[in-house]
Amino acid sequence: MEIITDVKTMRQKVAEARHDGKTVGLVPTMGYLHEGHLALIDAARTQTDVVVVSDFVNPMQFGPTEDYQVYPRDLDHDAKLCEEHGVEYVFAPTVEQMYPKDSRQVDVFVDVRNLDNNLCGRFRPGHFRGVVTVVSKLFNIVRPDKAFFGMKDIQQLRIIEEMVRDLNMDIDIVPVPTVREPSGLALSSRNTYLTKEEHEKAAAIYKSLQMAKQLIEEKGIRSVSEIVKACSTYLAEKGFKVQYFQIVDYDTLQLMQETKGKIIIATAVFLGKVRLIDNLVMEVQ
Ligand code: PAJ
Repeated sequence: MEIITDVKTMRQKVAEARHDGKTVGLVPTMGYLHEGHLALIDAARTQTDVVVVSDFVNPMQFGPTEDYQVYPRDLDHDAKLCEEHGVEYVFAPTVEQMYPKDSRQVDVFVDVRNLDNNLCGRFRPGHFRGVVTVVSKLFNIVRPDKAFFGMKDIQQLRIIEEMVRDLNMDIDIVPVPTVREPSGLALSSRNTYLTKEEHEKAAAIYKSLQMAKQLIEEKGIRSVSEIVKACSTYLAEKGFKVQYFQIVDYDTLQLMQETKGKIIIATAVFLGKVRLIDNLVMEVQ
């Protein structure tokens, strides 16, 4: 396995692989890898010949008051895990390689509308512009056949699926289910910010999503406002500050009044200063 820190070498390596008739899989990450990322890497390992894991904390997708500076980083540990999971290349570029101009000064970028009106997009202005721009750049550098994204970040996954379609990018986007702790808590690099007590408490996030599912499936409730009220109250009572608890249509990511068809139930909460997100996808008859 090789760690590559510059764009030119990365291009050369994938060009060689392609020349040998090999397919290339890309797993974009911001590093500090955990079992969730490893599920993506394992999927890439089984579906493509050469696996590239990008490891880059993208300044462009962080808001001015967000955790860019303190976001956890450990390239040595990431490289070890990648090696153990059969990765060929870890692409860990410097900020200067990815943004020769300051990331806040770029003049040309990829952007998104409508799909970022709700869920995280509503509360993180410019976040998805930063995500789709860096993912486009990674796609242009690595030119993968397939790219792997976690359902943990369902809005990100849906927006990238639409980007690939709208911009005619010849890349298969492969969704990978969310990896959870036995308590139900979705794995996240940001879980490292939690104290032991907060960590235990955080299991209630997934419980609130399951509660919504039960209200729909078992109680036959279809009114979104009723479901949202019950679940937000449950979270507030558990001591979370609820940023949003929303139910949106899977295809359009728009809010709905009655649950119907394929839906996403999603929440973002604060536990102390730590912001955590989770979601559940279901089909309502
Ligand atoms: P990051 O948060 O590091 O996540 C990288 C990938 O791992 C994403 O596709 C995310 O959905 C997936 N992932 C994270 N936790 C997961 C879990 N518990 N189960 C399954 N998959 C999980 O998402 C980003 O980085 C960035 O926005 C990026 C796409 C790399 C662009 O900078």
